[in-house]
Amino acid sequence: MKPLLIVSGILVASAVGAGVAISPMLTSAKAVRDDGPATTQSISQNAQGGQGKGAQAEAVAPAPAPAPPPVVTPRKNYTYKSFNVDGNYIALTFDDGPSPETTPQLLAMLKERGIKATFFVLGNMVAKHPEVLKMIADEGHEIGSHSWSHPQLTRISQAAVDKELGNTSEAIFQVTGKRPMYLRPPYGSMKPTLRTYIEEKFGLTIVNWSVDPNDWKFRDSQKVHDAIMAQAAPGAIVLSHDIYPTTVAAMPRILDELIAKGYKFGTLSDLVAMDKTPKVQLVAALPNGKPQQAQQKPQKPKPASTAAKPDAKPAKPAAGAAPQQRAGGVY
Ligand code: NI
Repeated sequence: MKPLLIVSGILVASAVGAGVAISPMLTSAKAVRDDGPATTQSISQNAQGGQGKGAQAEAVAPAPAPAPPPVVTPRKNYTYKSFNVDGNYIALTFDDGPSPETTPQLLAMLKERGIKATFFVLGNMVAKHPEVLKMIADEGHEIGSHSWSHPQLTRISQAAVDKELGNTSEAIFQVTGKRPMYLRPPYGSMKPTLRTYIEEKFGLTIVNWSVDPNDWKFRDSQKVHDAIMAQAAPGAIVLSHDIYPTTVAAMPRILDELIAKGYKFGTLSDLVAMDKTPKVQLVAALPNGKPQQAQQKPQKPKPASTAAKPDAKPAKPAAGAAPQQRAGGVY
């Protein structure tokens, strides 16, 4: 490990190159294996001190500087489902925790391989298990919001949305000293007006996924493994859940096979920083921000009277149309 001051210098340089530089949190498969107690200590200081400044970091040498604040600026009015990156980078995301039974096991698997991931936590789970959230933060993973109680945000009042998201961000802040930047809406349910409201009010960017092993449905490690390996691609966002023993049990093999295929792992902020898609590009509105598979379903045929018009506009979903509910889904 390099001396403290040099590490600090890299972090500062990275922060200056906002939006372009790859965050130092980014980890290739074997890059970071010596970040045990020192890193834990430094991030603990960050959490306790809130916006800890350089003076504090220098005063407590030889601990490395705390992880820098995010240097990325996510796209606006946009739902991330994957990234356009050079190289075999992939973002692993784990939802619905933290769980005192399974999350620490997963953290050990990630740490052993020097992998950083993103955890979309539920506020009510944070309230019950703050020490597990602290472990996640201390090990350098990114923490996102998954709401407080997992409702379909498009179906509750604005006041209820405020409570779900505000309380969750606050709970995360109380434990880690940082508010989340990303929201994974339960079930992936979102609509453009609500997305804009959430971005502006809570500073949360919506992140869904491109790889879904349906691990909530198939409590089978082999199926989880097979699905993730079949769907993995550069720039992918992998959805799974750290609350299921079958998912966590599948992870060592998945991680080792992804490493063997040359994949490198980053947090969402790492991949947002690398994303090459021009920020001015207009993205076709996706009804309710639903995941890709749902988008590809054929639209209902139009009534004959409309279809006969040569200039008929494409069918638009009705404003506020209810997103399709997955029976028993636990996204
Ligand atoms: Ni969920």
